[in-house]
Amino acid sequence: MSKCPQCGKRVYFAERQLCEGKEFHGSCALKYMKEKKEQKRDWLPDNIKQNLGRASEESAQQHEDPRQQESTSSYSHEDSYSDYYSSSSTKTAHGILIFGPPGVGKGTQCELIVKKTNLVHISTGDILREAVKSGSELGKQAQVIMNAGGLVSDEIMIGLIKERLNQADVLERGFILDGFPRTREQGEALLSLGLDISALLLLEVDDDTVVERICGRRIDPVTGNIYHLTFDPPPHDIADRLTQRSDDCEEVVRSRLQKYQDNLASVEQLFSNIVKRVDASGDKHAVFRQIEEFL
Ligand code: AP5
Repeated sequence: MSKCPQCGKRVYFAERQLCEGKEFHGSCALKYMKEKKEQKRDWLPDNIKQNLGRASEESAQQHEDPRQQESTSSYSHEDSYSDYYSSSSTKTAHGILIFGPPGVGKGTQCELIVKKTNLVHISTGDILREAVKSGSELGKQAQVIMNAGGLVSDEIMIGLIKERLNQADVLERGFILDGFPRTREQGEALLSLGLDISALLLLEVDDDTVVERICGRRIDPVTGNIYHLTFDPPPHDIADRLTQRSDDCEEVVRSRLQKYQDNLASVEQLFSNIVKRVDASGDKHAVFRQIEEFL
């Protein structure tokens, strides 16, 4: 039985958490990583440091509850955070985030936002679907997860986004980030890049509306435009070529919704100083009118 490097007390097997090859009590591992992160965040603006601190404390409290330790005992990505924090060499880009449940209309609003602002639309869902189409190893792994309504690993997603945010078009025109961050870990990694993020648009609608919107969604594979059989019908001449996403069935949507609910509070808290709530229950133009006020 070893001693916890954080508190010095003995670590029993049931409460053990591995971190950087050492054995901690579950909550001590988080305290240890928090202190380590604080040292690396000295350059972040004060308001962001405060948000990060609040989220970590809440998370540490949750991990002190032994019922929650079981589901998080394989929490081994802390090691890779250190890499993200220490390698944040991205130049400063400016942009906004769009966040909300599956099918709320994020992609639809991004089309309108891009027309008005010329920001680069970065959709993690689109990036992953491209990977699936290309038949790459990432695509094969992502397809299984997406079809089950799960989330692709933070490590993969953070790596993908860091790379995309550092490309010339984004640095020049700015970005609207759709589908990232989806977890606290992704949010922290994003903040660590020191980008100039002016708003997190939080689109809100009830679950039944989400299911109705997703089940009627059709995509034009030629232009990428999004339609809805009832709410935004496609022109007749392209109707035959429209496709439906493989994760757009009610069962999978319910699972995507659950994942969203699981992560909503922690993402919202991290960005609490820039959250802009948008009632997304009206038609797409009514929703856009609210968003325009924040652009
Ligand atoms: P992703 O593609 O990002 O899916 P999502 O977040 O579930 O959102 P959707 O694209 O389904 O919906 P939307 O909000 O864009 O709605 P839309 O505008 O199309 O991600 C897919 C998967 O990839 C995830 O499940 C996950 O597995 C993985 N993934 C992605 N990012 C990840 C990450 N960061 N970490 C881990 N895994 C990740 O609208 C929907 C329909 O409603 C359309 O038909 C539209 O016409 C209609 N509509 C839109 N607005 C209105 C309105 N106001 N009134 C009536 N109808 C409307």
